[in-house]
Amino acid sequence: MCHSEHRGRINISAVSDRACDECHADLKTKTGAPNYAAHIRSLEDGHPQFAALRDGSYDPGTLKLNHAIHTQPIRRSPNGPVVNLDCGDCHRPAAVKTNWIYADERYAAAKPSYSEEEEIHLVKANNLTSHAPVTGRELMAPVKFGTACSSCHLLTFDKRFEEGVPHDKPEIIHAFVVKKLRDYIAAHPGEVRVIRETDRELAGRPILPGARILTPEQWVAERSTEDERLLWHKTCQECHTLRNVSPGAGNDGAMPASGTTSHALPEVEKSNTVARWMPHAKFDHDAHRGFTCVSCHSKAVSSTDAKDILLPGIAICQTCHAPGLDRAESRCSECHTYHDWSKRQEVTPKFTLPALGSTSR
Ligand code: HEC
Ligand code: HEC
Ligand code: HEC
Ligand code: HEC
Ligand code: HEC
Ligand code: HEC
Ligand code: HEC
Repeated sequence: MCHSEHRGRINISAVSDRACDECHADLKTKTGAPNYAAHIRSLEDGHPQFAALRDGSYDPGTLKLNHAIHTQPIRRSPNGPVVNLDCGDCHRPAAVKTNWIYADERYAAAKPSYSEEEEIHLVKANNLTSHAPVTGRELMAPVKFGTACSSCHLLTFDKRFEEGVPHDKPEIIHAFVVKKLRDYIAAHPGEVRVIRETDRELAGRPILPGARILTPEQWVAERSTEDERLLWHKTCQECHTLRNVSPGAGNDGAMPASGTTSHALPEVEKSNTVARWMPHAKFDHDAHRGFTCVSCHSKAVSSTDAKDILLPGIAICQTCHAPGLDRAESRCSECHTYHDWSKRQEVTPKFTLPALGSTSR
């Protein structure tokens, strides 16, 4: 294979469009109606809009990111400086592991109890040949809370602690909160005397004056209910949808008399991130690294709904990939691999080394 960096190169393994057109110009399958567009003669003639961009398509991911807000000047924290986020502050190919500006090291280094596989949504490919990424620079890796959000979106949960909860499943967070509170009350035993806060009373109940003395476990139960109420109702819901959150309380709604571990905890909806949108082609970001992100993803700067598709349609590719010497290659084999090896036509070698040297730049 030749280099892919520069245009106008000679790709000796490129197959002419005719090798594809012979079937794709009038595609017929044994089962009748083909699954794919049936009359593709060239990129310019008969090639359909990409499936991900057709009417009715949407992003099935559930993370509530608002691109428009995050691509305009934005505050780093309630009183922090205003900054400009780059696409690359959140999006990088898997192989690029340089410093993340908006990472909080504790979160970036943490290993959560859920796996990346659980978060990924696989677009049904049904490919005849699969195009496995090889350099790790082709696709953008799924965005991570630890590397891209954690230094601006804090997971603090109680004014007694500066540290936030781990970014993990509710069970892990619940255990963390309970342990922090148990350690705290052991170190500050005087705080089991709670001054009644009248505004927390349920309507209609007489307000008893004075203070209550709680057992340490009662104190932990009340505090954790209160802390988790904030987490499940507000903190996590900024980015996620949580299921089974009981109204008004951190967990089961009642003030537990003792014990703090037997409550039904909410469930975080799967992020369902699409890792690869166009499995039938072999798109490579690295081959386009000279172009700004918004030249292809112009919708990213105005999108306010995470369901929006921000990908470029075929018309954008056609502005560069077109017949002509000063254009990028537009034969089928630039973007697809040859899937039917029985029909592959072997190339008769016709280049000598000096010829390659003088024409490949
Ligand atoms: C011998 C006939 C034949 C030739 C030659 C052929 N194809 Fe196909 N191609 C098919 C058939 C049949 C399907 C499946 C259609 C279906 O499932 O409805 C298909 C499906 C595809 C698909 C969608 C499925 C996938 O695997 O991603 C792509 C993309 C594709 N062909 C590209 C090409 C390209 C590029 C060439 C030339 C290098 C080529 N084909 C040459 C017959 C052919
Ligand atoms: C604050 C972090 C952040 C910034 C900055 C950001 N993104 Fe995203 N982007 C995300 C997250 C999280 C997702 C996944 C959720 C979603 O689909 O909206 C995503 C998804 C995407 C997707 C795939 C999903 C789709 O619907 O098409 C594209 C493409 C994308 N971003 C492009 C961009 C571009 C281009 C920029 C810069 C103009 C950018 N993003 C800036 C966080 C960010
Ligand atoms: C540079 C700091 C910064 C980074 C990094 C950042 N955010 Fe934000 N985000 C903010 C600020 C500030 C707001 C509040 C903006 C407002 O309401 O005007 C916000 C608001 C939001 C909102 C609510 C948007 C709405 O529609 O009201 C969501 C959801 C969100 N961010 C998700 C994310 C995700 C996911 C990431 C990481 C992929 C991320 N943010 C990274 C600063 C940041
Ligand atoms: C600022 C946005 C943001 C906030 C706030 C946030 N998360 Fe997340 N969360 C993300 C992003 C981005 C991912 C996807 C990748 C990752 O970081 O693992 C994610 C993924 C997850 C997952 C894995 C989901 C899956 O698909 O398997 C869980 C579980 C989770 N978060 C729990 C929580 C909990 C619980 C809270 C509240 C304490 C929370 N998150 C708060 C942004 C956020
Ligand atoms: C500039 C790149 C590019 C070129 C050149 C190109 N394609 Fe595609 N093609 C794509 C992309 C991207 C998709 C979307 C893949 C997906 O949805 O998984 C696609 C989709 C397809 C599909 C599936 C169509 C469907 O109905 O979903 C077929 C078949 C196909 N191309 C055949 C061809 C043939 C034959 C040629 C040459 C005549 C060709 N392509 C040239 C980029 C290209
Ligand atoms: C030449 C057009 C082009 C340029 C320039 C481009 N992208 Fe993409 N991007 C695409 C296409 C096409 C896809 C769909 C690839 C796939 O998933 O099969 C994509 C997919 C994505 C996705 C979804 C995850 C993935 O890789 O599939 C993100 C996120 C993204 N691009 C971000 C960026 C960022 C950030 C930049 C700038 C550094 C950028 N893109 C530059 C065309 C482009
Ligand atoms: C701004 C111009 C431009 C746009 C827009 C563009 N490309 Fe390219 N593309 C290039 C150039 C330049 C090359 C490298 C030289 C060449 O192949 O002629 C390239 C190379 C490629 C390659 C070969 C990568 C490799 O492995 O060598 C693929 C596949 C490709 N583009 C697909 C696409 C698709 C799909 C789109 C639309 C989503 C697109 N391109 C949009 C300019 C562009």
